[in-house]
Amino acid sequence: MTQAAHTSPLAVMILAAGKGTRMKSDLPKVMHKLANRSMIAHVAAACGTLNPARMVVVVAPGMEPVVQEAAKHFSGCGSAIQHEQLGTGHAVRIGMEELADFQGDVLVVYGDTPLLTSSTLSHLLAAKREAKAAIALSGMQPLDPAGYGRLVMSKPPFVERIVECKDANKKEKSIGWVWGGVMAFDAAFLREGLAQLTPSPVTGEYYLTALLDMAKKRKLRSLNVPVSVEESMGVNSRAQLAQAEAALQTRLRNYAMAEGATLVAPETVFLSADTKLGRDVVIHPHVFFGPGVTVANGVEIRSYCHLEGASVGAGTVMGPFARLRPGAKLAENVHIGNFVEIKQSTLERGAKVNHLTYVGDARVGESANVGAGTITCNYDGFNKHLTDIGAGAFIGSNTSLVAPVKVGAGAIIGAGSVVTQDVPDDAIYVERADASIKDGAAKTFKDKRKK
Ligand code: UD1
Ligand code: CA
Repeated sequence: MTQAAHTSPLAVMILAAGKGTRMKSDLPKVMHKLANRSMIAHVAAACGTLNPARMVVVVAPGMEPVVQEAAKHFSGCGSAIQHEQLGTGHAVRIGMEELADFQGDVLVVYGDTPLLTSSTLSHLLAAKREAKAAIALSGMQPLDPAGYGRLVMSKPPFVERIVECKDANKKEKSIGWVWGGVMAFDAAFLREGLAQLTPSPVTGEYYLTALLDMAKKRKLRSLNVPVSVEESMGVNSRAQLAQAEAALQTRLRNYAMAEGATLVAPETVFLSADTKLGRDVVIHPHVFFGPGVTVANGVEIRSYCHLEGASVGAGTVMGPFARLRPGAKLAENVHIGNFVEIKQSTLERGAKVNHLTYVGDARVGESANVGAGTITCNYDGFNKHLTDIGAGAFIGSNTSLVAPVKVGAGAIIGAGSVVTQDVPDDAIYVERADASIKDGAAKTFKDKRKK
């Protein structure tokens, strides 16, 4: 489906220089996230899967973080700076300066269209080649076409021209087919066409869509390749960001289920773009997956768990109400119960941490049992220190482990202890003040108060 499907070399250009004023944000629009991944990253990842020879992101001055973000998903991604936002045609002209020597297909995508998939893009390129078209573009029929460029087609699937919504007359506005924001061009044609581009007499902007007029003049074809409305969804506002998030979550949940995970109430589970769930994983209602989570086969995650930057080994059971923070590594058959927080720690096979516990910067050895209310005191106000709990150790309830500290394999810590020294293997450590019992003293105390 990818490289093999198109024979000519491919360059990708992502337009992201727009101000995104409708987001009312200090962040560039394309840095807003869906499924914990920025829009630009989604687009760069989808385009990167096509193995293009080149990729260029067009940004406004000061938007270097946008380029860096794209480069995370396509190394060698270049950039072009559009100093003034004079329109999409102008942006592509600036981008082509970076592709001056390139021959082949140029795929232009908008950075605010984060739901596009690589298979759709690949299909569009293949359709262009098959139809011997100079231009292939993504067409769609949304329920409400407001804001989109209308496709004028007297001989479908070929498009004569695109009329921008703001320039369209009443008849043109009634056209149901609109442009979804992806266009592929022959590089040579694109270069010539851009050189001749003039601004719209109505808005003064250079429209990329005006390239169709030039193709028509040269009797070259512009092909409409239908793409689903969902994939073409453009994000211009926070409300549209939320709509796109909802659509993406549905896609991610369906994918997880298709791969063999049970989501008991899928609509209540939040996934990240990079969440990896194994087979026969069962996710109960209301679980949140932040970035960087991997869950092995046969894991059960009960309700109200929150995971990020964590890996969960096969057969592990966690929750309800458990939190895995970055660096939590759980081996196979671990048990994590309610109100347990794990950070930057390794729990070895069969370890149990079942109630009301904080484990940070620690190793919990194989089959060790950490009792209710145990706290690793890992932070002294300046530095973080390590706690090491050996295999088979038993940590009594309400223990404070003051790091750096080591509990040997098979050792027992008496409930309520504050552990400030290393404990040898198989030893018992108890730290507890002497108890005192005063017979009848409670009654005497109460009787006095009643007088
Ligand atoms: C554009 C299309 C419209 C199409 C719709 C699909 C044009 C003229 N119109 O409208 O036909 O139906 O997308 O979503 O192309 N950008 C720049 N530099 C600029 C202007 C824009 O880089 O000078 C970038 C923006 O960052 C954005 C993209 O181009 O990623 C599209 O710009 P936007 O203003 O959102 O275009 P639309 O009005 O949505
Ligand atoms: Ca847009």
